[in-house]
Amino acid sequence: MYTLKDNNIQRSQWGSKIGFILAAGGSAVGLGNIWKFPYLAGENGGGAFLLVYLVTVAIIGFTLMLAEFTIGRYSQSDAVGAFKKIDKRFGFIGFIGVIASFFIMGFYMIVGGWSLAYIFKAITGAINSTDSIVLSGAFNELVINDIQPIIWGGIYIILNIGIVWSGINKGIEKASKILMPALFVIMIILTFKSLSLEGAMEGVRFFIKPNFSEITPKVILNAAGQAFFSLSLGMACMVTYGSYLSKSENLVKNAIIVPLLDTFVAIMAGFVILPAVFAFGFEAGGGPSLAFVTIPAVFSTMGANIGTIFSTLFFVLLTIAALTSSISMLEIPVAYLIEQRKWTRKKAVLLTSIIVFVMCIFSSLSNGKLSYLTIGGKNLFDFYGYVASNILLPFGGMLISIFVGWILGKKNAINEATNGGTIKFRLAKVWIFLLKYIIPVLILLIFLSGLGFF
Ligand code: TRP
Repeated sequence: MYTLKDNNIQRSQWGSKIGFILAAGGSAVGLGNIWKFPYLAGENGGGAFLLVYLVTVAIIGFTLMLAEFTIGRYSQSDAVGAFKKIDKRFGFIGFIGVIASFFIMGFYMIVGGWSLAYIFKAITGAINSTDSIVLSGAFNELVINDIQPIIWGGIYIILNIGIVWSGINKGIEKASKILMPALFVIMIILTFKSLSLEGAMEGVRFFIKPNFSEITPKVILNAAGQAFFSLSLGMACMVTYGSYLSKSENLVKNAIIVPLLDTFVAIMAGFVILPAVFAFGFEAGGGPSLAFVTIPAVFSTMGANIGTIFSTLFFVLLTIAALTSSISMLEIPVAYLIEQRKWTRKKAVLLTSIIVFVMCIFSSLSNGKLSYLTIGGKNLFDFYGYVASNILLPFGGMLISIFVGWILGKKNAINEATNGGTIKFRLAKVWIFLLKYIIPVLILLIFLSGLGFF
């Protein structure tokens, strides 16, 4: 346990090495991988999307992940405090992250609630079918309803409160340690099952074969935005998690393992869902319903009993994967309120959750009753996600990159990332070069083209 001399706050630390990887991996692996990635790929040309996604992870993902860990552990502080401590003028970068976290939680908690609701749909056998009309009907019935998704979302938020309430070690780490590996196993089973479906190969081809004419500015912005979202980057989430990391941990290794793990799960989800889309005649551009209609269809081919057991288990695990991500979002404003505003953890968790719940009520209703409320052609539910993934996260990522490259500076950054030179990091200079020059320019270009400037 560290005690910081300048503010005398006792900060907790991760209990073990594997605990941190699972927690940071738990933050990264979530609804973004299993729910969002496949439907965005479906809407954005399949292989074209995958290609841009992988390039973004390779160039920006690893470098920025390490940059966030480095800031966090260097400053041992919350999202806003971390930047401020290094340079007083830059607290606002963390503040963008605090704002972004609200936009994300404003729809994420609702999808978490859908996942909870699906546990019960699975148990009762209501989604044990391969019929696209039955499955789409079950999905629409839930999400368009005025009350149900809000109640489920509320329950989901309460689960989050329970975990974040108890603080970093006891809650987050324990939860991740038990639950992440189980999800992995069931995803592998699903992948094999889906790939063996008749007609699956068409989906595989769609997913992995890029059609270069489909790489449009819109696809690039969506894929890059999704990479930020899926890796939990750009809003100082990994800064906050890195701040709980001990000085003897290998940041470089962690910054490689976490993106690899996250990308692996996203690709697996693509191999589960897209082949099933083609095999069962769903619509690849089906949007947010995609995972919720295709996955039950795959399970139902396993027979009534086994299908029911597995799909119930799957939605339990999906809910848990969502939880390990959403607690990491909730932790951002919470850590900020505790450390900068001197609130108690309980008060911070409660107030943040109430605001999130109100945002969730609106985003949920925007799928039904309030669907006429649109901003730039998007309902509130989609709008929150667009603002976060395609604007705030890339913008935050650009600033974080500039911050480490130019403000924290080469010497400090490399010193922290290599534990004072005791860890081998051959590409240290390349890393700094990327952060200083390449990544900010790249993000700016992605941004401007996606927003229609070229
Ligand atoms: N990465 C998570 C997912 O894929 C979502 C998430 C958690 C996130 N924490 C974040 C996204 C911080 C951006 C920033 O579901």
